[in-house]
Amino acid sequence: MMMEGGDRFKKAFVIGWPISHSLSPILHGYWLSKMNLSGIYEAVPVAPGEISNFFNSAIEKGYVGGNVTIPHKEGVFAIVDEKDEVSKAIGAVNTVWFEDNRLMATNTDATGFISNLDDCAPKWRSGTTALILGAGGASRAVICGILAAGYQTAHIINRTEERAKELVDRFGEKCFAHTWDAFELLAPDADLLVNTTSIGMTGNAETSLPSLDKLPKHCIVSDIVYTPLKTKLLTEAWKRDLQTVDGIGMLLHQAAPGFEKWFGVLPKVDKGLREHVLAAMEQKGNSK
Ligand code: ATR
Repeated sequence: MMMEGGDRFKKAFVIGWPISHSLSPILHGYWLSKMNLSGIYEAVPVAPGEISNFFNSAIEKGYVGGNVTIPHKEGVFAIVDEKDEVSKAIGAVNTVWFEDNRLMATNTDATGFISNLDDCAPKWRSGTTALILGAGGASRAVICGILAAGYQTAHIINRTEERAKELVDRFGEKCFAHTWDAFELLAPDADLLVNTTSIGMTGNAETSLPSLDKLPKHCIVSDIVYTPLKTKLLTEAWKRDLQTVDGIGMLLHQAAPGFEKWFGVLPKVDKGLREHVLAAMEQKGNSK
């Protein structure tokens, strides 16, 4: 299918398992229609063990690239032809594209997280010390981003200390591993607190968070969980007059570089997009 001006019709995907919950088709669809571009972005369920099969026929099916989400971020990292330094640092990829039949990859989660903070709480850059809750894949992206932005100290707090220690080994001397009982002691030094765990996510509400009373007044509190949008952590921070940054912005910002790769235009993350995605979330019934 050709469009006015001769632009080629382009197809991009998001693969995951399950994938029906993904908001990515909604946000990329918004940009495609807003800019009147010739293309489609679609959710494709790919079962564990089916990644190679999917990529073997992806070019044939007309795909120029796409996003990779849970549980495939590490699996695709292992099979791509070329990956950049950021994805190597994180050990996972979320964005791929084809170049001369080669599968190329990057990870935009770190820049997505940073861009969202720049957008919503630019003062975060005057800080030096972050407390990061969790030591999974999302935590690796956040740590990678804040260290690249010049933070001097990242305290990684995790239920399983061993996983936090693995991140110290990965990211080096600016990182320190702790278990949850260290939270109150570390809190007074925090310029930025980020939750990367699934605590607070719908369905995982039973786990309690430590008190935020010891955080300094200037501490910015961010949650990468966006279902619900107002997590318990953000609500507790808000009650204490701390500046909060919710998780939906990271989702929007991580999407922009991929869109540019596949469709050739860097899209804007603006209020209209945010409202569109939030309305879709509400419709899907997962905004609470
Ligand atoms: P992701 O890639 O999305 O970060 P993950 O690798 O499964 O997901 O990591 C989930 C994180 O949430 C981990 O830090 C996990 O702690 P453990 O390493 O101890 O498992 C944390 N997490 C999940 N549920 C939790 C809970 N109920 N209490 C405390 N931490 C929890």
